[in-house]
Amino acid sequence: MCGIFAYLNYQVPRTRKEILETLVKGLQRLEYRGYDSAGVAVDGPKNNKDNNNNSITLIKKRGKVKNLDEELYKKDSDLDLDAVLGTHFGLAHTRWATHGEPSAVNCHPHRSDKDNEFVVVHNGIITNYKELKKYLNSKGYEFESETDTEVIPKLTKYVYDNRERDTISFSTLVERVIQQLEGAFALVFKSRHFPGEAVATRRGSPLLIGVRSESELSAEHIPIQYNSAPYYSVLRDHPGTPQGAEGLMGPTEPTALFKEGVQEKNIHNRPDAVGGGKAVEYYFASDASAIIEHTNKVLYMEDDDVAIVTNGKLSIHRLNRQAGEDPVRLIKTLQMELQQIMKGNFEAFMQKEIFEQPESVVNTMRGRIVFDTDTVVLGGLKDHLKEIKRCRRLIMIGCGTSFHAAVATRQILEELTELPVMVELASDFLDRNTPVFRDDVCFFISQSGETADTLMALRYCKERGALTVGITNTVGSSISRDTDCGVHINAGPEIGVASTKAYTSQFVSLVMFGLMVSEDRVSLQKRRGEIIQGLKDLPELIKKVLALDNKIKAIADELYEQRSLLVMGRGFNYATCLEGALKIKEITYMHSEGILAGELKHGPLALIDKHMPVIMIIMRDACYQKCQNALEQVTARSGRPIILCCQDDVEITKNAYKTIELPHTVDCLQGILSVIPLQLMSFHLAVLRGYDVDCPRNLAKSVTVE
Ligand code: F6R
Repeated sequence: MCGIFAYLNYQVPRTRKEILETLVKGLQRLEYRGYDSAGVAVDGPKNNKDNNNNSITLIKKRGKVKNLDEELYKKDSDLDLDAVLGTHFGLAHTRWATHGEPSAVNCHPHRSDKDNEFVVVHNGIITNYKELKKYLNSKGYEFESETDTEVIPKLTKYVYDNRERDTISFSTLVERVIQQLEGAFALVFKSRHFPGEAVATRRGSPLLIGVRSESELSAEHIPIQYNSAPYYSVLRDHPGTPQGAEGLMGPTEPTALFKEGVQEKNIHNRPDAVGGGKAVEYYFASDASAIIEHTNKVLYMEDDDVAIVTNGKLSIHRLNRQAGEDPVRLIKTLQMELQQIMKGNFEAFMQKEIFEQPESVVNTMRGRIVFDTDTVVLGGLKDHLKEIKRCRRLIMIGCGTSFHAAVATRQILEELTELPVMVELASDFLDRNTPVFRDDVCFFISQSGETADTLMALRYCKERGALTVGITNTVGSSISRDTDCGVHINAGPEIGVASTKAYTSQFVSLVMFGLMVSEDRVSLQKRRGEIIQGLKDLPELIKKVLALDNKIKAIADELYEQRSLLVMGRGFNYATCLEGALKIKEITYMHSEGILAGELKHGPLALIDKHMPVIMIIMRDACYQKCQNALEQVTARSGRPIILCCQDDVEITKNAYKTIELPHTVDCLQGILSVIPLQLMSFHLAVLRGYDVDCPRNLAKSVTVE
């Protein structure tokens, strides 16, 4: 999905070239999210015809960030790259097309007019853009792109052009603009009317601010400044306008805070802003991975916060204080290392992340399992344990790979919790208006913690009074903040679009949940003990599976020109089939299907002949015999199955075209080992087919649109 990066240097001299390098580097860190065009906005050179104009230059390019970077150097002579800028604010963005094709004109930053008075970068979707566009068109504002975003800078200029007084602060302008917007957004604004100032805001899309300063930060907590202003509306008849609100040009009776002089004083002289007017740098980003190489001090913005940097001071504003709202924002320390987001010696992030799994599962378990006493404590859930044990049912909700983690652990959770467990794709769950009750416990599983469908399902369940539990990999994400309680899976940043280590860590987290809930069930102690021992041995067993990489590559060499690949299994390994097939289709663009072996004779058997590549998962568990029956049905139709089986399974090896022999573990954890060969297989197939493994076409890492 789209990525935002913006950089403000206050009294920290940087050449324009250095600033552009910082912006481009920020975009490169966000490339993994998936995008189709990229752009930047920086102050233009002072030596052009309009000498004192604080001009803004926009440079936008379809395609990769590399194309944009090359374009910047072509512009060398126009841009005066060696000019030193003591204070400057630059914006950058990677766009993933939703409204309008990928093109330079549709790419961000978007602008208010040909003079670039206001420029904006945006993540998310503005759902009422058509009404706003029509209104602005009627006022003579001309649009150049097909995007929803463009209404934002145009609207900003409209509010600015129609201000009641000569002066208006940048933050007030933005506060008024966001009151008109419906949908989801993270926004960063730059304006030639407010040189060296930055304004950022969000609603439903993540945005964080990094702070770097040689001197001590003047505050670790930023108290919020509340402006109790009346509702401001541009569209008189707009359905969102509260009854009695004045249309067109805002509040009939501007309050004291809207009287600009008063507000300006409030902002600039507050001792509680960060920066204190000393040399300082700020980094605005939709994702911590773009910030971490500059600073680990960050502030996560909340919905409807308006952050402003003026004279090097950062302060946070909101319109009206709601009951129960936290009146401060903390500057937190990010626990992420730069090397975690670097590729190292691997060919792709996905490959690196597959090979990190022996460590990432340890990080998921660290401090949570005491192996000597068979105890499991998930700190984020322990206060809700009683409520969870009393519930009517568990509902696990997610999309894509995160949904598969729910499928993979459903059976063991049913066994350990003795509760009915439903697994739900978030979009389908919402489409069905699924009944949810106060005594349900709903799990929201999401690597990014920002997936729009999952987030909406969370809101739906909250409204119905269910207890909500987040299982996420992203600290500070919307799902981790909006749920009542939860588990951070601690897999570390996952950059490759295809999810790998997050899946195995979600899997481990959910199994740990089952173990925690069943701690006092006498009849389950033996089973719990086996599983806990299995978790202890898991990292070593994963290493053994990873050692099969060459063998898997050799099989990929045989398969990569095929058009289709079926993956079959059942019981604890059915989820592996779904997940393996998803990995294959998303990065190799081959057709692939995960098939429940029990369904074979109800249709899929018709696909089997000697030409159709089939992978079968047959492990020594309760479904072993049934899987052998499926194998016979396949070989009887001249199928040539490649079989994932347990080490030294002579019986299976006899009937296989090829085998990949895996170490054996307790049945409910076997899926963690059996998915890894398919992760590796999809990686090799994609490389052999010549595709960009980390950025598959049409896909994004964090799907923040419905
Ligand atoms: C597949 C993949 C997607 C995501 C899905 C949910 O490799 O990455 O299917 O799993 O978009 O994303 P999260 O887990 O971030 O909610």
